[in-house]
Amino acid sequence: MTNFQIIIPVRRYDDSNALSEADALLMKKAREAASMAYAPYSGFHVGAAVRLANGAIVTGNNQENAAYPSGLCAERVAVFYASSQYPDVPIEAIAVTARTKVRTISEPVSPCGACRQVLSEYETLHQTPIRIILAGETGPVVEFAKASDLLPMNFTSKDL
Ligand code: THU
Repeated sequence: MTNFQIIIPVRRYDDSNALSEADALLMKKAREAASMAYAPYSGFHVGAAVRLANGAIVTGNNQENAAYPSGLCAERVAVFYASSQYPDVPIEAIAVTARTKVRTISEPVSPCGACRQVLSEYETLHQTPIRIILAGETGPVVEFAKASDLLPMNFTSKDL
């Protein structure tokens, strides 16, 4: 038997102002996207902005539905749209944030497991790390260097 640890590097910024100009712009786009989310059931408005290797920025937000499971998270709306428009262009980074009327979100919003799986798929497909930048409305920002850091030992096409 062997015990081992999986160590995940995380970068933390005090707030969005500490981001590079390019990442601050990406987070701004994610915030704008969050304000246009269709989230009448949860009231939790999530925005995501994806930057591609060709410089294009694609945004998405959560789209809910009266048949609850039919809705989709902001990250997948953004990434699926990006891949549908630019199937051969690697995704370099995604910024995610959220807002809700009932409180100020002061901690980074973390992508759900399904979104982590989807991000990992495109990372494997293009063999390019997808940096993940997470923020609340205020407070710290955390950054992961690649999607697989958020989903260690992930399931890929190689497992099929
Ligand atoms: N949601 C996202 O869009 N992204 C996440 O990372 C977490 C959750 C959405 C799904 C649902 O519309 C609402 O937030 C509450 O779960």
